[in-house]
Amino acid sequence: MSCYLNNAATTWPKPECVSESVREFMLKGGANSSRGTSSERDMGTMNLILDCRMRLAELFGGYDDSNPLLVTFTANITEALNFTLRGYLREGMSVITSSMEHNAVMRPLRALENRGVNVEVVRADSHGRLNPSDFENALMNHKYNLAVISHASNVCGTVQPLNEIAELCVKYNVPLVLDTAQTAGVIGINASELKLAALCFTGHKGLMGPQGTGGIIWSPEFASRVEPVITGGTGSYSHLETQPEDMPDKFESGTPNLPGIAGLNSALQWLKDTGIKNIAEKEKLTGEYLLEKLLAVDDLILSGRHDMNNRVSVFAFNVNGIDNGILADELSCSGFETRPGLHCAPSAHKTLNTFPQGALRVSPGYFTSRDDIDSFIEALNTAIGKSK
Ligand SMILES: Cc1ncc(COP(=O)(O)O)c(C=O)c1O
Repeated sequence: MSCYLNNAATTWPKPECVSESVREFMLKGGANSSRGTSSERDMGTMNLILDCRMRLAELFGGYDDSNPLLVTFTANITEALNFTLRGYLREGMSVITSSMEHNAVMRPLRALENRGVNVEVVRADSHGRLNPSDFENALMNHKYNLAVISHASNVCGTVQPLNEIAELCVKYNVPLVLDTAQTAGVIGINASELKLAALCFTGHKGLMGPQGTGGIIWSPEFASRVEPVITGGTGSYSHLETQPEDMPDKFESGTPNLPGIAGLNSALQWLKDTGIKNIAEKEKLTGEYLLEKLLAVDDLILSGRHDMNNRVSVFAFNVNGIDNGILADELSCSGFETRPGLHCAPSAHKTLNTFPQGALRVSPGYFTSRDDIDSFIEALNTAIGKSK
């Protein structure tokens, strides 16, 4: 028996069209971008990149009528967050965030703190929800230059009240950067309607693309205020030794992950054909089924929300008296892939009162069936019996 329940780390399997497009690009396309002539292969790569930018801008409600030039490709969301945070925050500035952040946010912020940036962390409640009134209190008491929050927790799946937080950021004139790692492709998000400064995404989770893809949807105003963290060849303005200011070149130096973009492009078509609403509905039903069964397991303590409201299908729990690493190992031996420990989010675990032991995280995905859940619960009960 083999059963993948670690979709919060990366979705698997991917739709078949994704690997087919990566292969096709490697075999038949393969030209670099803006670094050749106007051969058919060169134009094929240019069109592929533009096509993918257009799909991303449309999916995420990009600014200026989904202008594809306001989309930057990065290697993952960690890089996207670093580009926005390190590219914008300077000594003497202040940034506000929540206690539910992944280290993709916290580590750049702590590094910036060492360089004189003031970092304020607003504590979420014990279910991982950031209370908008706590957030507003902080905004009333200090002038922040930037806010950054994750849309949903990668530990317990709690979804933040994004509309309220985004409205507060507009009210107090604070640019908001959003980490959509756990929600892109599962919850619809419109960057320009929410007036986000930057929406950061990763390609390999809910977007169903290959690893090594990600990016940023920018507001044009914010993009103009951010310095590029990486500079170099762009295939454009080659007479200049300074970085072009034009988008998208400003933030895209070096050869991009073209096979990855080919795969992501197909994945985005698959998402459109399947429909995010249908994906969300299916994942919710599977999550509901799993949640009900988890709550019936003896001695199991579930972190975060105990219902399916304002959450994605990511569940974290401990079983009294058993180390979650040992439990995960037992499950792995029977073919069930989960993730124990701290999930790169120590602050989130402190908020949920599961630090330092962490928790066992189970994250079904679009392709998980009810039979998979039944087998998992059976294996979990057996593993608990063995480990006690
Ligand atoms: C909320 C959140 N932010 C950031 C990341 C980092 O993603 P990546 O490794 O794709 O950069 C993750 C990955 O698990 C995540 O869940």
